[in-house]
Amino acid sequence: MRLKRTVTCGDLTVDNVNQEVILNGWIAKNRDHGGVIFLDLRDRYGKTQVTFNPDLDADIAAEAKRLGMEDVIAVRGTVQLRPDGNVNPNMPTGSIEVVATELEVLNEAQPLPFLVSDRESGSEDLRLEYRYLELRTAELQNLMAIRSKAYQSARSRLNAEGFMEFETPVLMKSSPEGARDYLVPSRIHRGKFYALPQSPQTYKQLLMISGFDKYFQIVKCFRDEDLRADRQPEFTQIDIEMSFVDQDDVLGVATRLARGIFKDILDYDLPETFPTMKYEDAMEKYGSDKPDIRFDLPLVEFANYAEKTEFGVFKDNLAAGGRVKALVLKNAADKYSRKATDGLTEWLRTYYGLKGLAFVKMDQTAFSAGISKFFPEALQAEVISDLKLEHNDILFFVSDTEARTLQSLGALRIELAKRENLIPDGVIKPLFVLDFPLLDWDEDSKRYIAMHHPFTSPNPEDVELMQTAPGDVRAQAYDLVINGYEVAGGSIRIHTGDMQSRMFQLIGMDEAEAQARFGFLLKAFKYGAPPHGGIAFGFDRLIMLLAGTENIRDVIAFPKTTSASSLMDEAPSQVDTQQLKELHIKLVE
Ligand code: AMO
Repeated sequence: MRLKRTVTCGDLTVDNVNQEVILNGWIAKNRDHGGVIFLDLRDRYGKTQVTFNPDLDADIAAEAKRLGMEDVIAVRGTVQLRPDGNVNPNMPTGSIEVVATELEVLNEAQPLPFLVSDRESGSEDLRLEYRYLELRTAELQNLMAIRSKAYQSARSRLNAEGFMEFETPVLMKSSPEGARDYLVPSRIHRGKFYALPQSPQTYKQLLMISGFDKYFQIVKCFRDEDLRADRQPEFTQIDIEMSFVDQDDVLGVATRLARGIFKDILDYDLPETFPTMKYEDAMEKYGSDKPDIRFDLPLVEFANYAEKTEFGVFKDNLAAGGRVKALVLKNAADKYSRKATDGLTEWLRTYYGLKGLAFVKMDQTAFSAGISKFFPEALQAEVISDLKLEHNDILFFVSDTEARTLQSLGALRIELAKRENLIPDGVIKPLFVLDFPLLDWDEDSKRYIAMHHPFTSPNPEDVELMQTAPGDVRAQAYDLVINGYEVAGGSIRIHTGDMQSRMFQLIGMDEAEAQARFGFLLKAFKYGAPPHGGIAFGFDRLIMLLAGTENIRDVIAFPKTTSASSLMDEAPSQVDTQQLKELHIKLVE
């Protein structure tokens, strides 16, 4: 390379007029104005206009003319003020141009699969196949810059609080709980496998036993689970663990870290303390353990009224131990035609297994449409007065098992808020959800499973209930929710072997299995394990919030699709039989 850059494409201003500079970059635009060639040269710092005038040098003007988009070039030239009328106030370098005297073509680009200047010019699959080109777009350059700043912010904030940074193994022992493990076959140990960590949970607890009382790690985690818009098979956590602490200490660190990162990246002030809500209240009021509290629209208990209707579905569900809850959407009934309510019903049926969605509309001072005929007059009057209903309000009802009622009405709450524009822009609302249950009943395997993970400590007040009513035991577990996203989750841990064994028993793991899977941890608990607890932030989700995107793939340089493949390098891929043979693996047809 003959011409090595002396400045970047974002550097030059009127202060540099008459200086000789060398620029390196990609051609973002090439225009011919009556023989004078105007190139926009781009790098990650900005764009600079370069002109090639055939009156000054016919040869390089001719060469510049034939260059295409995304060719990589080097240019020597002199900085000049742009003539009046050509100034572009929207560009930091918009007052100047570089008049080229020398040109070096560093590499030419083939015709592009989509326009780097317009991300929407290619489908997402095409952009993922050429991800390195999509990363050149202004939008992704900005997102990656936010991500880079967020790493630095997290590190410096945690460092300032006295946390030590660690790396824990990526090849570990398999112990699936929650999601499936990604497995790595061992060549040396025939028939044995490593697993990629779903999180460094056991390692960070062992580091507490080693006396490193404030640990953190920015770490890749791997989970073979169903993917969604906010889930990737490999994702990054800011993982934190502390010794000799209680729940408030961990929440304090999480609050200061989240505040610090939002301040550093967005100059946004989150509150000094975050509001808290019990899991149970979150489920009842918002139908979600990660409620978006930027808007209200609460779920309304409707069982008492439902008993008095003549609607069989409500009564049957209540008799079977189910629930009836409602949502009141103000002044919107006219927007919910038959077609619209049918559409919502179909959506809830498909995604939430709901049998039906009932509704009534307010017409002046009475119910109309939907299931209004099942409400006797006196009951209508009672509901209208209690819920302060007015003309053109619409009430949606869901009645099903408790879990399905809450979950689907929670989803409907979000959907209606989006349709009705109830979610304010530019607002960031954090919330700690506390008092999660320790256990969750799994209908498929007919046993309890750990709601967070099996190392989570029960609330000391509920330890007795572990014998009598395990489903009612509260955990010392907490989530940080921001704008409806679960951004972080953690717990105070069990730190004695006895309690850990009791927990394993509760989730149906007998002594032999517990020893086989977690014997190393139970053993470590025998050698002076301090009380400890921690939390892990989903780093990618944090970046989504900082960047205001709803697609996790936007904030990861090389993401996977929802079917866990990489369209760029075509992972996963087949391997040759020799590789399989070395690993002692034979594929079954
Ligand atoms: P948990 O499983 O709640 O806790 O994970 C912590 C946070 O990681 C993020 N997250 C994900 N992000 C993207 N894609 C995924 N597939 C994905 N799964 C989880 C979420 C979540 O809040 N070891 C415990 C933490 C602890 O107890 O300290 C753990 O991993 O934002």
